Amino acid sequence: MAETPAPEQTTGTIDNTLDNVEVDTSFESDSAYGDELSSYTASLASSVLDYRYENGRRYHKFREGSYLLPNDEAESDRLDLGHEMYLQILGRKLYLAPVKNPQRVIDLGTGTGIWAIDFADEHPQAEVLGCDLSPIQPSLVPPNVKFLVDDIESDWAYEGNPFDFIHARYLAAAIKDFRRLIRQCYQSLKPGGWVEFQDWDGFPYSADGSLKDTGLERYFNEVTGTFQEVGYECRPGPKLEQWLKEAGFVNVHAEKFIIPHGVWPKDRHLKKLGAWFQAQIEAGFEAGALAALTRFKDWSKEEVMILASQARADGRNPKIHAMYNFYVVYGQRPEK
Ligand SMILES: C[S@@+](CC[C@H](N)C(=O)[O-])C[C@H]1O[C@@H](n2cnc3c(N)ncnc32)[C@H](O)[C@@H]1O
Repeated sequence: MAETPAPEQTTGTIDNTLDNVEVDTSFESDSAYGDELSSYTASLASSVLDYRYENGRRYHKFREGSYLLPNDEAESDRLDLGHEMYLQILGRKLYLAPVKNPQRVIDLGTGTGIWAIDFADEHPQAEVLGCDLSPIQPSLVPPNVKFLVDDIESDWAYEGNPFDFIHARYLAAAIKDFRRLIRQCYQSLKPGGWVEFQDWDGFPYSADGSLKDTGLERYFNEVTGTFQEVGYECRPGPKLEQWLKEAGFVNVHAEKFIIPHGVWPKDRHLKKLGAWFQAQIEAGFEAGALAALTRFKDWSKEEVMILASQARADGRNPKIHAMYNFYVVYGQRPEK
C-alpha cells in the first residue's frame, strides 16, 4: 500500500510551518505523559431526543443519518478532551481572530457546547448561541448562552439578526459543502464581523515514511476514504483560506499547526500535544469508523473493531511518527 501523500500545503498567510519534527529516540519519557492520557433553550420536539441506537452507539435523530459519528457520552467525553487539546494548541486561547467587544456570537456544530460556554464566560456582555444536530449540551450554563438544534447545512435565517463573530471548530467529516456554509456565514455577519474556522486536514502523514503500510494508514484510507466517497469534506483545513477569500472575506489570516500522534517527538510541547491527540483519537477510532463502514461498506462491527484496535496500537508505537495538520483561519466581512 502506498504511503498516504503529505497533505496539500496552502500558501499565503500561513506562518507556522515546521517541516521536520525531531524524534525522541529514548522512548523513556512516555511514562511522564501517562497521566496526560488518563441552557438548553430550544423547544425540543420529542422526536429530536428519540435517538438512533446502532452497534452499541447512539446517534442523532434530527436529520437522521446526516452525521456519521455518535452523540453518546463516550463521544461527548472525547470532544471535551479535544477542547483541552485545542486550548493547548492555541496557547489557551479560544480563538485567534481580532474580535472586539462581540455582542452576538454563534458556534456552529457546537457538540457538547464547551467552546460556547467558555466563550460566554469570557465575554459576559455577549449573547452566545451554540447550534448542533444533537441536544447534548448541559443545562447548567452561563446565562448568556443558548443552544439550539438546527442543521447548519440548511438555509439560515439570521440575516435580519446578524452576528459579530461566527466560530466553527472540527467540522471535518461533518460538512459536505463548506463553500456554501462559508457563504452563509458571510451573509449572517454584521459588516466588520469576523468568522473563524479551526479545522483539520484529515489524513496523517510522516516525514520519514514510518506510516507506510501500517494499520494506522489503513484506518485512514478506509474510513476517511469512505467519508469522502459519500460526500463529506475531510480535508477542509488547507482549503479554508481560499474559500474565505472566494466568499468575499477580507483580512484573511491562516495558521497551520503540526500535531503529532503520540509521544514520539523530542520537543516537550509537541510531545505533550501528541499525548493529548492520542488520548482523544484513541476514543475516536471506533466512533469515526462504525457508522461509515457498516452503513456504506458492509463491514461487520467486529471487523471495524479490529481495524480500530490496529490503528490504536500503531498510534502507540513510538517508531511510527504520524502527524496531522490543524488550521486556524479567520476573516472579516468588509465594513462596507
Ligand atoms: C466533531 S464534532 C465537533 C464539536 C465541537 N465543535 C468541538 O470542537 O468540540 C462535530 C459536531 O458537528 C455537529 N454537526 C454535524 N453536522 C451538522 C449539521 N449539518 N448541522 C449542525 N451540526 C452538525 C455534530 O453533531 C457534532 O456535534
